[in-house]
Amino acid sequence: MSLNVLRAPIRRAVVCAPFPKARLRPSFRHYSTPPPERKSNFGLYAGLGVAVLGAAGYYLYTSNTGSVTEAAGALKANFKPTREDYQKVYNKIALLLDEADSYDDGSYGPLILRLAWHSSGTYDKETNTGGSNYATMRFAPESLHGANAGLQLARELMEKIKREFPWISYGDLWTLGGVAAVQEMAGPKIPWRPGRIDGFDQHVTPDGRLPDASQGADHLRKIFYRMGFNDQEIVALCGAHALGRCHTDRSGFEGPWTFAPTTLTNDFYKLLFEETWTWKKWNGPKQLEDKKTKSLMMLPTDYVITQDKSFKKYAKSYADSEEVFFKDFSAVISKLFELGVPTEQFSTSEPWVLKSLDEQK
Ligand code: HEM
Repeated sequence: MSLNVLRAPIRRAVVCAPFPKARLRPSFRHYSTPPPERKSNFGLYAGLGVAVLGAAGYYLYTSNTGSVTEAAGALKANFKPTREDYQKVYNKIALLLDEADSYDDGSYGPLILRLAWHSSGTYDKETNTGGSNYATMRFAPESLHGANAGLQLARELMEKIKREFPWISYGDLWTLGGVAAVQEMAGPKIPWRPGRIDGFDQHVTPDGRLPDASQGADHLRKIFYRMGFNDQEIVALCGAHALGRCHTDRSGFEGPWTFAPTTLTNDFYKLLFEETWTWKKWNGPKQLEDKKTKSLMMLPTDYVITQDKSFKKYAKSYADSEEVFFKDFSAVISKLFELGVPTEQFSTSEPWVLKSLDEQK
């Protein structure tokens, strides 16, 4: 039996307990801040990208405080990591996710998944910039973008793994973290393959590429179409909000979406349709709460998928079948994590399905 099955009720009990009253901040950091007015340097970035490709194997990394150091281990002669090496990294991440007894709901999984998504979701298909390839969130100003508030902790956690496996690129490490988070929190298998390389601060993406939770359907389409997703994929991606919670000191929003925020289920969609949602009366940004317990939340962008005709069709099908949701979620997360990575960079043409900790017992 999967350990997650046992963990879920425990976590559910924790989450059902009354929430401590959140300290409200006087001004709210919205999830996304407007794009900068100055012109971006994407032509230049593309050229530099080619230079970086030429320098593949030469790993440069920076700490969150901005100091630059060579990853000595990566330069060691001709080390070619195998699938088993990546499985070892996966295993270390999986163990780390559970070292969170006094953090949120007892797992770093949701936070680590958010890091993987925010590092991939900056992709722009028109300019072919952003995405998971260069792990540019290591650098300011991207590390300081309002949307990324709270992810410094995630980057610090992943740094522990990086120290042990210096040969792995940050892009591979962070996306593998997302894979481990989904699989260890009882979600579907996420096919994944390595090949991302580390970029430089010149590659940071402009602010405003990630979604703003206070907006509507047009905004969701603008942001996710830019990444190359369609309506069905947008709705499937939103199901990640079965996991984790909002924090007033990060996004300004507050609370979890489901009663079991460390287990991936289709509860997000079920709750959207089964509960009555009303606007929360509080001194914070507009969010919804469930009428019955007032302990769950929905963002305006979450609620929109029940209001928009096209989105609603898919949301309903995911509410009706966890199997259908898992199948589509797996495919769309794989696609998300590969955004911005040139195909020829991948070390295998067929993505791998790495084993969960339970499967290796
Ligand atoms: C549809 C557009 C989306 C919007 C507007 C949005 C917005 C947000 C916001 C405001 C938070 C709360 C952050 C905090 O206060 O800590 C959050 C958390 C989270 N988001 Fe999203 N998100 C979106 C899509 C996604 C996608 C595509 C994924 C993953 C595939 C995702 C995964 C998560 C997770 C796992 C958390 C919980 C993090 C934690 O518990 O620390 N979100 N999101």
